[in-house]
Amino acid sequence: MIPNNLICPLCSSPLNVKDKAFVCGGERPHSYDMASSGYVNLLPPGKMKNAKTGDGKDMLRARIEFLSGGYYDVISNRIADHIAETLRGRSSVSIVDAGCGEGYHLCNITSRLEKQFDVSAVGIDASKHGADMGAKSARAKKLPVFFAAGNIFSLPIASRSADVLISMFAPIGGDEAARVLTDDGILVVCASGVRHLWEMRSIISDEPREITKGIKCPEGFEEIDGSRVFDRAFIPDGDTIKNLFTMTPFYHRCPYEGRERLMATDKLDITIEANVAIFKKI
Ligand SMILES: C[S@@+](CC[C@H](N)C(=O)[O-])C[C@H]1O[C@@H](n2cnc3c(N)ncnc32)[C@H](O)[C@@H]1O
Repeated sequence: MIPNNLICPLCSSPLNVKDKAFVCGGERPHSYDMASSGYVNLLPPGKMKNAKTGDGKDMLRARIEFLSGGYYDVISNRIADHIAETLRGRSSVSIVDAGCGEGYHLCNITSRLEKQFDVSAVGIDASKHGADMGAKSARAKKLPVFFAAGNIFSLPIASRSADVLISMFAPIGGDEAARVLTDDGILVVCASGVRHLWEMRSIISDEPREITKGIKCPEGFEEIDGSRVFDRAFIPDGDTIKNLFTMTPFYHRCPYEGRERLMATDKLDITIEANVAIFKKI
């Protein structure tokens, strides 16, 4: 499903579909080709840092393989339930997931919400590979979710066009959230809880630290709801443990010995702990 709230990353005018491209209505129209998988690259062209911001193919592949095992569904289910409860009574919901990665969670959230609402969802990520993988998943699952490569801090989304902006384990652009949300829209933020993945972190580090940062309320918003997700899961094989490790930031910053210890582990009980906060504009 093609959303009607995409805008040009260069001139911010609305994008319309023409043949297999998105074309803006600016004086000198800019055009963005749709890939065969169905995603569109709306990263502002020519910015070198675009290439460096998004997660790499190996991380994304590991993430989709791990998440497909359902280990984190408890988190995306909770997010969907919060949205359903907060927006109860509405018939349709427009969702944007900013920093959606390979889109597993957005697809899961959409498929849960579809039972209650007419859903239109857009996943945005700096990684083109992520947007490509998301588009393929949504197509395979026949879900009304569209994916675009784009920047969280300059979203290619029209102002006041989204009922829900999701930020899951991703950087938050508070100003952009305020801009794209409707006046009664909600910002849903999900971040790691105190002992998230504690057992894995205890293997890779001699002194694992509790995650005490919490979720900060962005300026211009107030918290209206939230909850803590807590679950335990058993990982029965080394490949799945490796996928879990590869999809986390520890993949890039873990001492050699810790990595070796984890790679020699063939089963693991893990704690899954996350905080979800729901904000509305003041
Ligand atoms: C830890 S991953 C979380 C992905 C997904 N939300 C999940 O929970 O599985 C963070 C994501 O944010 C994306 N990201 C980081 N900075 C970004 C930016 N400035 N614009 C768009 N995406 C960004 C990365 O490419 C990555 O996919």
